[in-house]
Amino acid sequence: MKSVYIRGNASLYGEVTIQGSKNAALPIMAAALLVPGVCVLRNCPRIADVEYMCRILESIGCRIEREKREIRIDAAQLSDSRLPEEYVTRMRSSVMLMGPLLGRLGEVSLSHPGGCVIGDRPIDLHVKALSRMGASCRDDGKGLAAVCSGLRGTSLRLAYPSVGATENVVMAAVLADGVTCLENCAQEPEIGWLCDFLTHCGASIRRQGPGRLLIRGRKSLHPCTYTIPADRIVAGTYLCACLAAGGEVRLKGAPEGENGALEAVAERMGASLRRTQNALWVKRTSPLFSPGRVETGSFPAFPTDLQSPLLVAMAQAEGESSMKETVFNGRFGVVKELNRMGAGIRLDADTAVVPGGRMLTGKRVRASELRGGAALVIAGLCAQGETTVENRFYVDRGYEDICRDLRLLGACVQDG
Ligand code: EPZ
Repeated sequence: MKSVYIRGNASLYGEVTIQGSKNAALPIMAAALLVPGVCVLRNCPRIADVEYMCRILESIGCRIEREKREIRIDAAQLSDSRLPEEYVTRMRSSVMLMGPLLGRLGEVSLSHPGGCVIGDRPIDLHVKALSRMGASCRDDGKGLAAVCSGLRGTSLRLAYPSVGATENVVMAAVLADGVTCLENCAQEPEIGWLCDFLTHCGASIRRQGPGRLLIRGRKSLHPCTYTIPADRIVAGTYLCACLAAGGEVRLKGAPEGENGALEAVAERMGASLRRTQNALWVKRTSPLFSPGRVETGSFPAFPTDLQSPLLVAMAQAEGESSMKETVFNGRFGVVKELNRMGAGIRLDADTAVVPGGRMLTGKRVRASELRGGAALVIAGLCAQGETTVENRFYVDRGYEDICRDLRLLGACVQDG
């Protein structure tokens, strides 16, 4: 198993270009199933989850051609609605293929999706919404099968603004018969990018205020060429790295207006941020102050995906702070390993209490999921001595090459 080797306790200086967004690319690849032709996606991140999605699409009849970060998806011959268990169990986001397959073929079957061990990940909101649109879903405990004789537009309100359920409803609604009004939908930027891609394919989607979308079903969609936007979570991860380790970095291509909550916390902790033409400049050379209470939530609240990376900066900051995780009920898995490095974090139900003022010590630690793995790499950058982060494959699910990127920021990291 590959690991990341870090020699720590050094500030970061340099510039890195932010990769394409995993959480924009995956739903847009799924949405390409709705188009009976060739969609060309540019700036796709070269990560494991995009590879898994390509294999799933190929297994159901799509022709996929890849040239570096350009992926051509030809869904004209889409034929099979049974998703391969091998990949579905590895990747939670395969659940978002339900909407497009019901829209194109009127049926879909899949085993229960897998994914990171960050807490319960039911799909009840997806099933309830698709059922309201005319799908009949059957769950035999091992897997799920859904069929419909054409989806119909309707008015829906999500009980929780689930990103995946919002994406599934949008993709089911664009070819449905009639109009769908979706309320309390997720407002993460990736929803906007998915709607933008579908609009480029001829879909009719209107944002009708915060958390409200109006979608008029179309008879068919046409192919388009689309550039995947930069990854706000990768940009936020490297911002947290500079916050924790100190230094001055330039995040080229970092998306604007998508990390407001993190940027406000970073400035509270003593960082200076400045947006230049197509980059975010981050400087933290003064002492690091506690941000006080931070709470994750649906966009525009502080993103759950940056909770673990920020914990590392909080552990270095002067003064106690706390992180309340409200999105996933199992997303503090990384705390055990951070405490082995000396973070001293105390868990109290859904809240991590961080005493702060800790100098971390390099250790051999083990990643157990994507964003916790990235947080352990950041901890290695700050720690005295050498850190080895094992199970690097978790990190590779979302980061093209975290070692390459951090070396560009002057870090002493090796992969192996
Ligand atoms: C997406 O996951 C992202 N993944 C996650 O990023 C991200 O953490 C999450 O949204 C929240 O922002 C992709 O976009 C591929 P949810 P998703 O449905 O869609 C509950 C990463 O690190 N829920 O918004 O699975 C669920 O249990 C990944 O890149 C139900 O109860 O997230 C959770 O508590 C991790 N029933 C909450 O909603 C449902 O049917 C948020 O889940 C669906 C969700």
